[in-house]
Amino acid sequence: MQVFAFPKEILPSEKRCALLPANVKAYKLSGARVKIESGLGDAIHISDEEYRSAGAEIVFGRLALLQSADVIISVHKLPLAELALLTNSDKILISFLDPFNDADYLQALESNNITSISMEMIPRISRCQKMDALSSQASLAGYVMTVQAATKLPSILPMMMTPSGTIKPAKVFVIGAGVAGLQAIATAKRLGASVTAFDTRSVVAEQVRSLGGKFLDIDLGETGETAQGYANALTPEQMETQRQAQAQCIADSDIVITTAQLFGRKPPMLINQETIALMKPGSVIVDMAAESGGNVQGSVAGEEVICHGVTVIGQGNWSNDVAIDASHMYANNIQHFISDSWSQETKTLTINLSDEVLNACVITHQGKIVSEMLLSLQKKAVA
Ligand code: NAI
Repeated sequence: MQVFAFPKEILPSEKRCALLPANVKAYKLSGARVKIESGLGDAIHISDEEYRSAGAEIVFGRLALLQSADVIISVHKLPLAELALLTNSDKILISFLDPFNDADYLQALESNNITSISMEMIPRISRCQKMDALSSQASLAGYVMTVQAATKLPSILPMMMTPSGTIKPAKVFVIGAGVAGLQAIATAKRLGASVTAFDTRSVVAEQVRSLGGKFLDIDLGETGETAQGYANALTPEQMETQRQAQAQCIADSDIVITTAQLFGRKPPMLINQETIALMKPGSVIVDMAAESGGNVQGSVAGEEVICHGVTVIGQGNWSNDVAIDASHMYANNIQHFISDSWSQETKTLTINLSDEVLNACVITHQGKIVSEMLLSLQKKAVA
């Protein structure tokens, strides 16, 4: 019987976890043993006792938990130092891995013979929608960013007509209308704002309009998208055209939310200090990408700063603010992923690399990197 282990998250501010009691029951029914590190759900108000009642075994020593596991599941990857404790044990790790940015970590996974599965690399195909943790967390991020901006703005979002005067709706501009951006648009509309959005993938214009937003038309020429549906990087000339064409819309906005990302690459720098200076003092910018380089010049990862009188929020890890829902969704994503690759015969999680999903998200297996995307990036870096 395979042992699934759920260690507590190590990051001090992290409140999310990868398992709720309902998932324990499902894993037990499919024939796995479930062990958790004591205190796993403390930050989201789920006690050890609730996990125990659902069928989990509570383990007090982290090392004992990790060493007794066949599959180790978490939100963030295990600390590098812990990988060495799993040597030659053929374990499977499932978490967000950030595989593009940590070569040392990949090397440790290889040398310790660990099969690693990156939740970021689950393909964006219909079969995987239930497993898509990038989408579940991005969707919550879109909501959180809008609510945070609304609480920082020294005015309200909806129009109000009162005997004391008429208040116009706030103007919100969302740059990047992928999963997070669309949720930000929907949330701002629900709060009564007037919303405009822009994305380099013109196919999303219709989605923006269907949410009640306006789409800012900027002619960038050919932009296209990758085979996986991600945006292509713009040329420096296209970037400049975008920056100039959106400057007036930014200047007119009370809130700007930037969610533009390029899969596996640094996010594009879209708003410079000169453009921030055009905004009214007291306005708010939320930079979703601050932790990975930023869409906004001057945003600081994990912090809120004032630039030219404008509040620029770069907090990051947005879904952690709504950790109960984020854990619920992430734990379900993991459960669906495991059930998709679960062998009813052997009662094990089977790593079949010819399967389309595993082929995309397994990063290391049997002592080497097997992810084709990472291997081709490594080749390009050497060439
Ligand atoms: P993402 O997080 O990689 O990027 C966010 C948005 O930023 C994207 O819409 C992208 O086009 C945009 N962007 C990039 N550079 C920009 C720039 N210079 N200016 C303005 N916007 C810029 O994207 P996300 O949200 O992860 O979605 C990626 C794709 O995956 C989308 O096509 C989405 O519809 C698709 N998807 C498909 C799913 C499925 O199951 N079929 C599930 C979820 C997403």
